[in-house]
Amino acid sequence: MEISTTLSTDLVDDQKLAAILENPGFGQHFTDHMFTVEWTPERGWYDARITPYGPLSLDPATAVLHYAQEIFEGMKAYRHDDGSVWSFRPEENARRMVRSSQRLALPELPEEDFVRAADALVEVDRRWVPDSAGEKSLYLRPFMFASEKFLGVRPSQHVTFMVIASPAGSYFKGGVKPVSLWLTEEYTRAARGGMGAAKTGGNYASSLVAQQEASRHDCDQVVFLDAQEQRYVEELGGMNMYFVHADGHIVTPETGTILEGITRASVIELAGKLGHQVTERRFGIEEWREGVASGEIVEIFACGTAAVITPVGELRSAQGTTPAPASTDLTMRIRQALVDVQYGRAEDSFGWMHRIC
Ligand code: PLP
Ligand code: COI
Repeated sequence: MEISTTLSTDLVDDQKLAAILENPGFGQHFTDHMFTVEWTPERGWYDARITPYGPLSLDPATAVLHYAQEIFEGMKAYRHDDGSVWSFRPEENARRMVRSSQRLALPELPEEDFVRAADALVEVDRRWVPDSAGEKSLYLRPFMFASEKFLGVRPSQHVTFMVIASPAGSYFKGGVKPVSLWLTEEYTRAARGGMGAAKTGGNYASSLVAQQEASRHDCDQVVFLDAQEQRYVEELGGMNMYFVHADGHIVTPETGTILEGITRASVIELAGKLGHQVTERRFGIEEWREGVASGEIVEIFACGTAAVITPVGELRSAQGTTPAPASTDLTMRIRQALVDVQYGRAEDSFGWMHRIC
């Protein structure tokens, strides 16, 4: 893939950038440039380019606006103490995007082109990668959408893939503290044969009303159960879950209808290295309630790229409240082990880090 570059003549000035990087929040500010490549069946992927960041002009009949044929990814670039910039397992995001594109009938972007596109944007906007203090990073948002002007319901014959980037601080206001969860019994996220394992906008659109339900009950996040039996824990709106047992073993819901988190897979390996066996299996909501009550479950945590790893506190539902588990010790140890690798403070024994510049 050949990438052309047109640099912006209207860069955010250094003073304004410093103020943004001081307190970036999440998803509010965007870098000076963006990456775009387009696809048609005849041409394949073509016209890869870095251009100044700016609005798109879309025909009102653009397919994605009507049928949501869209997928995305979330990953981060981290600045190490020596100034170098690295991403975390970007080839895993590339592979997941291929799996999402298969489910959404979108064309596959080759893994090396995906990684190249993200690298190229970070290289040109490297001054936007915050320093590592306070666990800041540059959040990268690759996405692909149906850009054909056509109202028929069939896979789009024109597709656009883009990468944008946004400096990120803590995903949750107030930093790392246990998040309270609302158990929705009204809504489910994904059914067998549905799109639960794909990272596609529709899954997030469908989670919003459940998240509103959670907020009405003063909870930070919503937890979804399986659609078939309404018994098994699936995941949160944007995070995977883990249940730490008294003997040290950890259970995480099996894949199928959940998003296969890259942090999830990494936590399984890191926990193993710390001597904790992780089992992937169905985990019932009653097991959660009874386990916390009996002391069999000593910690619960959730993880994702944006949120990193966060302890889970109270579970509330129409059935009542299950208190926060006793401890957050292992959660915080695994969290530290992960961020130490990401920020280059610990040996990258799994070979997860990818140097960009
Ligand atoms: N589950 C959902 C629904 C998500 O949106 C995310 C975030 O990307 C995750 C889990 C965690 O995935 P990852 O660790 O790859 O960010
Ligand atoms: C991520 O963690 O990267 C996500 O995509 C979760 C959310 C911001 C949608």
